[in-house]
Amino acid sequence: MRFRNKTVVVTGGGSGIGEAAVRRFAAEGARVVVADIRPEAMERVLAAIGPQRHLGLVVDMEDMAAIERMIAVTLTRFRRLDVLVNNAGMGSFGRVTEIDMDHWRQVQRVDVESVFWASRLAIPHLEKVGGSIVNVASASGMAADYGFAAYNAAKAAVLNLTRAMAIDHAPAIRVNAVSPGLTATPLATGLTGNAEMMAAYEPVLAMGRPADPGEVAAAIVFLASADASYVNGHNLVVDGGMTAHTGQPNFTRLLGENSHLVEAESAVKR
Ligand SMILES: NC(=O)c1ccc[n+]([C@@H]2O[C@H](COP(=O)([O-])OP(=O)(O)OC[C@H]3O[C@@H](n4cnc5c(N)ncnc54)[C@H](O)[C@@H]3O)[C@@H](O)[C@H]2O)c1
Repeated sequence: MRFRNKTVVVTGGGSGIGEAAVRRFAAEGARVVVADIRPEAMERVLAAIGPQRHLGLVVDMEDMAAIERMIAVTLTRFRRLDVLVNNAGMGSFGRVTEIDMDHWRQVQRVDVESVFWASRLAIPHLEKVGGSIVNVASASGMAADYGFAAYNAAKAAVLNLTRAMAIDHAPAIRVNAVSPGLTATPLATGLTGNAEMMAAYEPVLAMGRPADPGEVAAAIVFLASADASYVNGHNLVVDGGMTAHTGQPNFTRLLGENSHLVEAESAVKR
């Protein structure tokens, strides 16, 4: 019950990683604000955790006025704000030469600008109670993917914005990020639900599977909790080892299965 009497706002709380975080915060005693652009997703999660104790809001994180309302209504209802989880996000496919300015701007609005604006509005209230922010970035913010240019840029910005806010607003609040790798959520079903795609992932998924959303939520809740009271400006990578890999071939497998390569390696050693 690390969040008894604390108020937590989770953006994109109606699905996937956000939903898993909502459920964990609620189970640990928090009063949770489930903010999502999709009313039916928000209502489903709110019904699961209890609409009397918690609050659901339909919020489009592209809409600055809606974000202002989210913070204002939270304070009116619960009188305090302890944790902001900037989780809402969208994916994007395309190289720079294939996406247009409207798409680029939408990705930056949803994935980065919403983090800036919600944080800007929340920080004065978080400072009153020694609260914290957790931003959901991505392994795709730490290096580049083929064909994910706008998303790579946005998530990298989230990571450095996390660090900037962490040093600017310490010691009054803490600001950290979680960087998931492939996680089995509706956002990623185009990847996790596609056999050819999963076969292509096989060499880089050291754990042999995507993350469960609850495994990412556990890291979010840890960073928001008093257990992380001296953790600030950190990027907690929850990718099963994906970014621990240089990208080089699997030598164990290759050298074990191909005797000519083993011989070549022995020749080098000799
Ligand atoms: N699933 C992955 O493999 C993965 C990997 C790395 C990072 N992430 C990040 O995790 C976060 C959560 O993604 P997820 O995989 O749980 O996806 P998801 O689609 O399951 O959930 C995202 C939720 O955000 C909501 N949302 C989308 N746009 C919104 C907007 N403009 N305003 C308010 N709500 C909005 C959606 O309605 C949805 O309920 C995102 O920031 C995503 O970039 C996901």
